Amino acid sequence: MSLVTTEEGAAVKSICILGAGYVGGPTGAVLADRCPGVNVHVADVDAGRIGQWSQGPLPIHEPGLEVIVSRCRGRNLFFTTDLGTAIDGAEIVFICVPTPTKAHGKGAGMAADVSAIEQACREIKAHARGYKIVVEKSTVPCGTAASIAGLLQGDGAGAFDVLSNPEFMAEGTAIADLSEPDRVLIGAHPSGTSAAAQERLVGVYAQWIPRERILRMSSWSAELGKLAANAMLAQRISSMNALSGICEAVGADVEEVALAVGRDRRIGGAFLRAGPGFGGSCFQKDLLSLVYLARTLHLDAVAEYWAQVLQINAWQQGRLVDTVVARLHGTVAGKRVAVLGVAFKPGTGDTRESPAIGVVAGLLREGAVVRVHDPVVPAKGIQRALGGAVEVCADAYAACEGADGVVLCTGWEEFRALDYARIHGRMRRPANLFDACLLLDRAPLERLGFSVFGIGKGRGK
Ligand code: UGA
Repeated sequence: MSLVTTEEGAAVKSICILGAGYVGGPTGAVLADRCPGVNVHVADVDAGRIGQWSQGPLPIHEPGLEVIVSRCRGRNLFFTTDLGTAIDGAEIVFICVPTPTKAHGKGAGMAADVSAIEQACREIKAHARGYKIVVEKSTVPCGTAASIAGLLQGDGAGAFDVLSNPEFMAEGTAIADLSEPDRVLIGAHPSGTSAAAQERLVGVYAQWIPRERILRMSSWSAELGKLAANAMLAQRISSMNALSGICEAVGADVEEVALAVGRDRRIGGAFLRAGPGFGGSCFQKDLLSLVYLARTLHLDAVAEYWAQVLQINAWQQGRLVDTVVARLHGTVAGKRVAVLGVAFKPGTGDTRESPAIGVVAGLLREGAVVRVHDPVVPAKGIQRALGGAVEVCADAYAACEGADGVVLCTGWEEFRALDYARIHGRMRRPANLFDACLLLDRAPLERLGFSVFGIGKGRGK
């Protein structure tokens, strides 16, 4: 069994992960799997969640995760509610706690809420005896590494170096993203005081990631690099969604435009899919955090620039609602509209910031009777996301019963395989299908008698 050796010759044998959620769980599992010489303790205050990680079923759905957890659990991967022992027993402590958008006080609705980070630091300070490398993995506002260092300073029994090592995993592909990342950022104090700690963490990742993909930089660059990557991905989507409006108006096809643009190797084809807008817990939160940073730095033009990416996202959902209303003869009041898909993207049961939320809210405001179905999100989760005014249906056919319109809000593969003749048979005439995800082939649906609207598909005018 090879231990991790570093330029300083020290071997890392123990890692503690604080937070057993979407980030901490998969990160701990892959670290344990790829570094058999390292004991990984994943610690969380939530005993229920730790119980699920320890005994199953796992609290999050992530392809490939279960196999890794069962291979490593009890060998060098442990789940615990005993934060103190896990912290003190580790050489490296990863902070993987949530940083949602602040709900109250200064910066509410924009700044990231870092109270869980502060709490984690207080736990680390209380329990650490001796030297620890503290790694911020959660997505945080720029400057957080410095504020973590400040929190850890003082009269405790520990000594600390703080590194920024932002996560780049997307839901549904977390294991692949962790196993074969495009890059790993390891940010250290700009003056170089934590350079040795940086090398130790490089040594951990180098066990399975080619060294040229492990990038050393300052903490500020790593923190801003993470926000910038998400902001630029979101910007590409908003760019295509903005163009989708033009396509519909002039008779162009947004998928053809995406092809034309994406085939330029300098641009590339990823994240150019127009749709109902981006969702999830990351893009909006990180854009808001970037806009807030720019505003606090009095860089108003910069703040406005990134805020536009969010505005286009909201506009796209509003535009979809307007299209449904227009195509249903100017009003949806009292009419049944089925919404298929509530998850923010296919492959996840997560509904956070899902485009369906904005679309359903708009339809309800217009007086529609909204029935929804999602193949993965449970009824309770749907109602938590959309409120009690919607009727949750066990299958797509029930949702479409008597409907004037069907709106596809998540591009689930399952929706391709639906029996559209059966759906058409249950709907009121004319039967309108709004494909916001560009999932379906239009011609066979039109042959069945549907009036089909595809986002950014000018041909349907
Ligand atoms: C995103 C980033 O992709 C990850 O690299 C990052 O680590 C993560 O945020 C994070 O900060 O934690 P995630 O939000 O899980 O990951 O999901 P994505 O696959 O990026 O999708 C985000 C949204 O964009 C979804 O609603 C998706 O449907 C939408 N999207 C994506 C489009 O509308 N068009 C596209 O072409 C691609």
